[in-house]
Amino acid sequence: LDSLSGSPGPVITAPAKPDYGAVRKAIEDVLDVDGYDDGSYGPVLVRLAWHSAGTYDKASGTGGSNGATMRFAPESEHGANAGLAVARNLLEPIKAKFPWITYADLYTLAGVTAIEAMGGPTIPWAPGRSDAPDSTACPPDGRLPDASLGAAHIREIFGRMGFNDREIVALSGAHTLGRCHADRSGFLGPWTNAPTTFSNLYFQELVNNKWRKKRWSGPVQYEDKSGELMMLPTDMALIWDRKFKPVVDEYAKDEETFFKDFAAAFSKLLALGVPGQAA
Ligand code: HEM
Repeated sequence: LDSLSGSPGPVITAPAKPDYGAVRKAIEDVLDVDGYDDGSYGPVLVRLAWHSAGTYDKASGTGGSNGATMRFAPESEHGANAGLAVARNLLEPIKAKFPWITYADLYTLAGVTAIEAMGGPTIPWAPGRSDAPDSTACPPDGRLPDASLGAAHIREIFGRMGFNDREIVALSGAHTLGRCHADRSGFLGPWTNAPTTFSNLYFQELVNNKWRKKRWSGPVQYEDKSGELMMLPTDMALIWDRKFKPVVDEYAKDEETFFKDFAAAFSKLLALGVPGQAA
């Protein structure tokens, strides 16, 4: 690795049989921390995995999780990635303990491990990503979705990665986890009352709760009657669009199908552009 970048750093020899199970265990051990958000770093690790992969452009083969380019500016400073230093820094001691794993494999494995630890489905994941030596391969800003826009934008962004309507709705179900932070995205609040458990609750809330525009000085977002739960404009687009809506209805009623579809779509997302893992 170091000989490639030309620096005379320590030579890292991969073990004959890398123990990814040990890395998973180390990730599980740092997930739950009282006092951080809802008590778990799981959601922000899922967001890290998704933002590292969601820059992929099928046409040019650029972007994606291979390379772990988010370690470098300008990508680390793209607006969409605000707050993700929390997740990257959390993984540094694990990278130090297992120096043979690449950052690119670690960022994606952390998302997979977090989803499984929070009660989600098993996500097929394979190693094989390498780390870019510098910022040359950083994707341009604007490849990740803008939460203030609608269905056409969502289809354009995810279509660029190679996803269809059903996969888009399945992936969006990750918003059952975590919350929005005013100091990161400008938006505020969680989507569900169980933000550290992976479930189909996000779809149930979308369909069964009543949503209205929040009256505040922040960006347009929606809230329920309690004022405690929120939806982004892009979340609302899933029930306003006549092709997305039936899939939302289906997942709200059938968690098993959601888990199956999510596992396949998230696995595909993390494999985009990875050598030997063509989707
Ligand atoms: C959080 C937007 C799709 C996983 C967020 C936040 C925004 C956002 C604005 C709040 C960030 C913050 O303030 O901390 C969007 C948009 C999407 C999208 C516009 C597509 C139209 C996805 C997908 C996944 C995902 C596909 C994963 C499969 C998450 C998670 C969080 C989150 C887990 C919570 C992070 C935390 O609690 O720190 N998203 N997202 N999102 N997003 Fe998405």
